[in-house]
Amino acid sequence: MSGFPSFSYRNGRLCGESVELDRIAREFGTPCYIYSRAALTAAYREFDAAFGARDHLVCYAVKANSNLAILNLFARLGSGFDIVSGGELQRVLKAGGDPKKVVFSGIGKRPEEMRAALDAGILCFNVESEAELRVLNQVAGEMNKIAPVSLRVNPDVDARTHPYISTGLKENKFGIPFDEAESLYVSSHEFSNICITGLDCHIGSQLTELNPFIESCKKMLRLLDRLEAQGLQIDHLDLGGGLGIRYSGENPPLVREYVDVLCAEVGQRKQRILIEPGRALVGNAGILLTRIEYLKHTPHRDFAIVDAAMNDLMRPALYDAYHEILPVITENDIGAKTYQVVGPVCETGDFLGHDRNLALRQGDLLAIMSTGAYGMSMSSNYNTRPRAAEVMIDGDHVHLIRERESIEQLTAGEKILP
Ligand code: LLP
Repeated sequence: MSGFPSFSYRNGRLCGESVELDRIAREFGTPCYIYSRAALTAAYREFDAAFGARDHLVCYAVKANSNLAILNLFARLGSGFDIVSGGELQRVLKAGGDPKKVVFSGIGKRPEEMRAALDAGILCFNVESEAELRVLNQVAGEMNKIAPVSLRVNPDVDARTHPYISTGLKENKFGIPFDEAESLYVSSHEFSNICITGLDCHIGSQLTELNPFIESCKKMLRLLDRLEAQGLQIDHLDLGGGLGIRYSGENPPLVREYVDVLCAEVGQRKQRILIEPGRALVGNAGILLTRIEYLKHTPHRDFAIVDAAMNDLMRPALYDAYHEILPVITENDIGAKTYQVVGPVCETGDFLGHDRNLALRQGDLLAIMSTGAYGMSMSSNYNTRPRAAEVMIDGDHVHLIRERESIEQLTAGEKILP
């Protein structure tokens, strides 16, 4: 249970902070994402404090969970933000985030997204190709603005994570090839509406070892030294996100260990350090609450059919990801069985957990753990299923932070032919 400090059992009932989760199911229904304000706050403070007096900016990767209440909470704590779309920019601004603390990543920024970010006055564009640099230069020129830029460099380092979420290998679509970065930096003065301010990389997500971070940091610093020797002024070093969390058996580095090695590598250099953590800030601060609709016993397998599905939590179907599944109320009077915990969606890939040893009854509540990151933000309406509600626990209060969607909302934009 050490991975989920804000969710623990009291008298046989699973609680978030001091709130019993069955109370939340009664009040807000299921499926429902539940977050802990205390856990989110503690996670942010842990990152921030680990840098000590060193000049730094933690830029929360909005894609991990973009609910306005979560963005607002981080903004109040002083966080910056890593965005990948105009939509995420609007969310950050709406949530009270400071545009001067926003970095804009992503390989396919559209001109209108660049315009919105230039209008807002963001801290930096993390540019991923020469073609993008040209378009940004043109857009900024049309607006009589200078765009602050880091080039996102692909350091060709194996993050040793799931292939779908590894981003820093030379065959990945991300970043500027390491060997081409220096010449693009040096030629950047040809772009009159671009101002180089930083150097950026990101090698992948759910990293459970420090070595890939160290390896890419060393490569980036060698490049930094060469750029400075050529007279370029680099104000910040953006070292990406990617620190893993514990879903079950993993033993990822502690936040302090991770930040310590980055700071040690950067050493006495004067650059401000930026990092872009997503999962490590929100992953274990959230769970997905679901109710068992039916138990189905076949000669081959026992199924628990729950009211959450792959549209609510895509990670098991997409990455074969493992999430702990816990009963909300522990039952002592029924025997445990090995269950396939599945959703109602019409696909065999719609599962939340395989082969889980659980003692279950129809109508029981289950908590899918560690779903604060890439849960709601990757949800869909597949099978015309309205998206789940989201609530935030704050001590003994529970705030609704996103209403459950209605079917009317789902069809609102659709038109029948005349
Ligand atoms: N910065 C950039 C440029 C990124 O591409 C990402 C994640 C992050 C920061 C944040 O990485 P984190 O600290 O969360 O690892 N949907 C997948 C994860 C995709 C991550 C993509 N990029 C999952 O559910 O595991």
